[in-house]
Order: sequence, then structure tokens, then C-alpha cells
Amino acid sequence: MDVTQSTTQPKRANPKPADGMDLDLSKWGNNLVTKFHVLMRISQIYDSKNVAIQQFVQESLETINTLIKREGILSLKIVRNDFFLNEQRLRYSVEGFTSFKYLLTQWKKKLIGEVIFRSQVDEGILKNFVYTLMKLEEGREENADLFNEALANHRITTIVVNPLEIVEGDEEAFTLQKEDQREVGKKVFFETIGTIKEVITQIKGKQHADVRKLKRLAQKAVHLVIEDESILLGMTTIKNYDEYTFNHSVNVSIYSLAMGKRLGFSKKTLTELGITALFHDIGKSKIPIDVLNKPASLNDEEWGMMKRHPLMGVEIVLNLKQLGEINPRMVIGIFDHHLKSDFSGYPKLFRKKEISLFGRIIQIADSYDAMTTPRIYKKVPYTPEQALAIMLKERTIHFDPILLKIFIGLVGIFPIGSLVLLNTRETGIVYKPSHDPKWLDRPIVILVARGGKGEVKKEVVDLTETDGGGRYKRSIVKTLDPFKYHIDIAKYFL
Ligand SMILES: [Fe+2]
Ligand SMILES: [Fe+2]
Repeated sequence: MDVTQSTTQPKRANPKPADGMDLDLSKWGNNLVTKFHVLMRISQIYDSKNVAIQQFVQESLETINTLIKREGILSLKIVRNDFFLNEQRLRYSVEGFTSFKYLLTQWKKKLIGEVIFRSQVDEGILKNFVYTLMKLEEGREENADLFNEALANHRITTIVVNPLEIVEGDEEAFTLQKEDQREVGKKVFFETIGTIKEVITQIKGKQHADVRKLKRLAQKAVHLVIEDESILLGMTTIKNYDEYTFNHSVNVSIYSLAMGKRLGFSKKTLTELGITALFHDIGKSKIPIDVLNKPASLNDEEWGMMKRHPLMGVEIVLNLKQLGEINPRMVIGIFDHHLKSDFSGYPKLFRKKEISLFGRIIQIADSYDAMTTPRIYKKVPYTPEQALAIMLKERTIHFDPILLKIFIGLVGIFPIGSLVLLNTRETGIVYKPSHDPKWLDRPIVILVARGGKGEVKKEVVDLTETDGGGRYKRSIVKTLDPFKYHIDIAKYFL
């Protein structure tokens, strides 16, 4: 397989999530959460009679009532850190992340866990609902009852609210430990995707691109990777966004940072590496979208254009004044990211040149992410294990063998996000590598049990655990293809 080719054509990711979630409902759900977010916010600025809120209330009504017309009922419920719309878990959209976060925090603080709209509502009812909700005191256990009473006093019977359910158990304790960092991780991840999207749009529109935020986010990512790289590495399993390019840049950056950490880079160098990786394909913003998204193979002219993206990237980055001082290795890293040691890569050079360290790191991260992501010409991507096997086979020409070894050590023989079958017949998802690097084949795994409603998270186990007789309790037998089993890996990392 030509790895060079696989890393050059960004394609829309497979739009259908692996677990067969109703995409349309998910989209409406995201829309609904955003509407609630804005309604709650504006209710704190304006009183309910203010004309300034009219238009927005109307738009929100449209969303809510369309959903009720379609579904018969609307229930928005919090389970742990997720929203379920009519029992379907809502996946964050990049744009919707802030709204999710806001709604989740506000409802949790007020101990409201579910809101049910039993039939269509009008302006008066909706306003009443929002203003009553915002008046609730934080942390009062009777809030749901008080809320229902208040609604009843206004003769509103179409809306019912339920209190927040606190989930107990070991699993929760495990989640809570890392909760804060995980939350920060999510925020950094989604914000970076959103910001890179903004920057690319600005560059495309020949506007001034504001990259200060991106720089700050890269610094935060460096901090997170130093603390616990598995959090951000887990997020790279989120492969099914429509917007491949943005997701890809962020994933490449995360893998590169984790490699840089293993190489003992300083914080400053790591930040430079993170930014370089975020911008490695920025030159593609100058390539027409129909060339980028062409499902068939490219003609000579289109290939020529594609091959110029490293150089165009260099030009763009050199013009980003706000990046501050640009270390030459950043631009060289972008220039180098498709050069091969046997000269087969691009841009074509007249003289042999060594590929820089940043370039060699990014090449590995780039190929791995491209191969494990669904693309238009390969809807079912390689499993992490298959991708690593291909890279190992081609290591002498395409990759720096030592860096590749580090990368494999980092993602494990069983990379984070691999679906694995254990000798106990249980199925698990690799959650993070073992604490001890000598146990590359014994990672920490989330056991998943497949119930009626799709798979459910059961328990987190450490494969280095032994029984009384010194035998391992569980071992990996083989990896499975999550696409075949319809398992949505990413949701275990959110
Ligand atoms: Fe590239
Ligand atoms: Fe790339």
C-alpha cells in the first residue's frame, strides 16, 4: 500500500457512526441543546417581555416543536456526563461543545436531570419554563418538585422535570478520579478543532488569521500530555466527524506531542512541535475543495497541486505574524512532512536532504491517523493494529525506524482504542497502556458487555492483574474490528 498517497487526500469521514445512531436526531439534538443554552443565557439578561428575545424564542419553538412532531415526545436527560435525547446519547458536535458544557453544568448545579415535553409548546409556556428554571437555587434537593409545582401553578401540564440521578458504584469512582483532567482534555480537544477550523476559514477568505488562541490551546495540550497523555490520546479515537481536515490536524498534533514527550523535549519545544503539527496540512487550504474531496484518483494537474501543499504551508505560516517568533524547525517540519528518505516523496528536491526531526515525527503521526480514519475511498479504515503492521513493513523507506518504535511503544502493541477479545471470552477496549512500559501487551482495558441496546461499559481492568496462583486473570487473545461489531469506540473516551 502506498502510504504516501493515503496521507495526502483529506476526505469526509464516513458520516454514519459505527453504532448506527440516528444522525438526524443527533443533529436536532445538538440544535436543541444550543437553543436551550442561548435561551438560558438571554433569560439572565432580559426579562421575559423584552422584544429582544422574541426572535430567538420563535426559533427555539420551531426546533422544539419539530422534534415533538417527529418523535411524539421530547425527553432530554442527563446520564453521568452525557445528554440523552429520547434515550439516544447525543454526540458533541464541535460547534455545540460549549452549549453542552453549559447546559450540563447548569442543570447539574440545580439538580435537574431530565426535562420532558409531552406535547407541543407555545411561546408563553417556553418562556415560563426557562425563567422558572433559571430561578431555581443551586444544590436544592427539592428543585424538581418545586419546578413541577411552579409549572402547575401556571397550568402548564405539558412539561415535566425529574431530579438528577446520581450514579453510584466503582465505575463512577474511577471516572471521578480523572474527571477534571478529562473534562479539561475534552475542552481543549474540541476547542482546538473549532479554532483550527476558524483559522483555515480565515486563511481561505484571505483574511487576517487570528492564531493566538491556537497557540494558547497548544500550550494547554502540552500541559495535558505531560500530566497524562492517555486522555488526549483517547480522544484521537473520535474519527467520525464530517470534517476530516480539522480533526486530523488535532490528532496528528496529539500523537506528535506524545512522541515529543518520550523524546524528552522541553515544554517550549513541545509547544512548537504541537503548533507545527496543527499546521502541517495548512497548505491544503489553498487547494480547491473539489480536488481535496475527489473520490476518484487525481489527474496529473491535481496531483501537482496537491504536492505543493507543504510549500504553501510554509508560506502561510511565515505570514502568521501572531505566532510570534517562528523557530526555523517549525517551517522545516511542515516543508518536510512528505519527504521520504529514498527521494520518493515530495516536494521534489535537487539535492538529497535529511528529513528534520519534526518532519519525521509528524510523518508517523500523519500516516497512522490517516490510515485509521474512514475516508471516501476506504470507508472501513485499518484497525490500529493493521495500520502499525503496514507502517512497520514500510519503515525503512517511509518512516524513521527508531521513532516508529517509540510510537508503537506509545500507542502500545495494542493501541488505545483497539477492540480486543480476551481469553475469558470477554470483549474489551484498550483504554491506556500499562503503567509499566515492560507490559506493552498488558494494557488497561474497559470491558464491554453487549446488551440489548448496544454495548454497555462494564468495568475497567488492568491486564497485569494476577490471581492468587500468580496467573494472569485476563490476557488478550486477538484484536477485533470495531466496524464489524458495530461498536462505537470513541464514546468510551468522552
Ligand atoms: Fe500533508
Ligand atoms: Fe496530514
